[in-house]
Amino acid sequence: MSSTSPIILSIESSCDDTSAAVLKGKQLLSNVTADQKVHKAYGGVVPELASRAHQQNIIPVVEQALKLANINKDAIDAVAFTRGPGLLGSLLVGTSFAKSFAMARNIPLIEVNHMRGHILAHFIEDEHHLPKPSFPFLCLTVSGGHTQIVKVSSPSEFKIIGQTIDDAAGEAFDKIAKIIGLPYPGGPLIDKNAQEGNPKRFEFTHPKVGEFDYSFSGLKTGVLYFLQKEIKKNPDFIKENLADICASVQHTIVSILIKTYKKAAKAEGITQLAIAGGVSANSGLRKALKDLEVTNGYKTFIPPFSYCTDNAAMIGIAGYYKFLENDFAPYTISPKARLTINSL
Ligand code: KG4
Ligand code: ZN
Repeated sequence: MSSTSPIILSIESSCDDTSAAVLKGKQLLSNVTADQKVHKAYGGVVPELASRAHQQNIIPVVEQALKLANINKDAIDAVAFTRGPGLLGSLLVGTSFAKSFAMARNIPLIEVNHMRGHILAHFIEDEHHLPKPSFPFLCLTVSGGHTQIVKVSSPSEFKIIGQTIDDAAGEAFDKIAKIIGLPYPGGPLIDKNAQEGNPKRFEFTHPKVGEFDYSFSGLKTGVLYFLQKEIKKNPDFIKENLADICASVQHTIVSILIKTYKKAAKAEGITQLAIAGGVSANSGLRKALKDLEVTNGYKTFIPPFSYCTDNAAMIGIAGYYKFLENDFAPYTISPKARLTINSL
């Protein structure tokens, strides 16, 4: 084993994606994710179904990741896994698998905070060869469960500058999509429909919250009341205006995200701005961040699509940094559904 380029098998199972990856040092060798179609019929993730699907998926996903990486089980130096935050039943599957694998092979076990994983995904080395942020930088982490502006001073130092006081940005996308009649997860579908729409057609109010905080539950209610009013006049309003509704909703969410992010960057005096998490796949957000390079002179970091939504590659890179510090977990460890970015 090389102490600076360990071969790490990583496991992610915090929500409804079962994922396994293999890294050699920072270099990604494979990243395999099985998503769970079973939740579509329910309009959201059903925790009990998620954990059952993880149980079915975990072994084939790990086998596929090892095969694609061309790595034999005996060559693995450590196993990294998502300890939290997430759904407890889902986390239990990945945690139990990782513990058993590490124990059976007598190799180190590394616990990873899912939110840190999203951010550290920027340091994965792969075929994209993207420039990496240097420390300190800011990251706007926008997922289905979180919306936070984080100051990242090193791979193990994270400070929350601001965060949502209610719904996360991804949750806002998904809930508004549901109101419009789009299936779960609605974020990518709002994005798709927005492509053809006019983002300025409908205006929705921005929330009033603390200087660096976010709030999205008012927007969801605002869209609901607006649509109810319009449908009374024209029952086909949504169908006839789908692209403009999606474009206007997306434009509002992205403007809210960027406005506060810029304020935080100015206050912190930091010019390197990254985004991470499922909503960082959103075309409007990616473009708005990129535009800040031209308009404000910031250096921006946008992850490849494969590291935006949940994946094990990000858990592997976070595990790699902990491996360098000999920061290992006991085989008796259990998952934690609630975990802030400052813990682990
Ligand atoms: O990070 P993630 O995969 O899971 C959590 O940790 O929550 O994020 C999932 C969220 C969902 O709310 C999904 O609708 C949203 O990311 N999402 C998007 C897009 N792709 C995924 N939201 C808007 N536009 C997208 N293109
Ligand atoms: Zn996530």
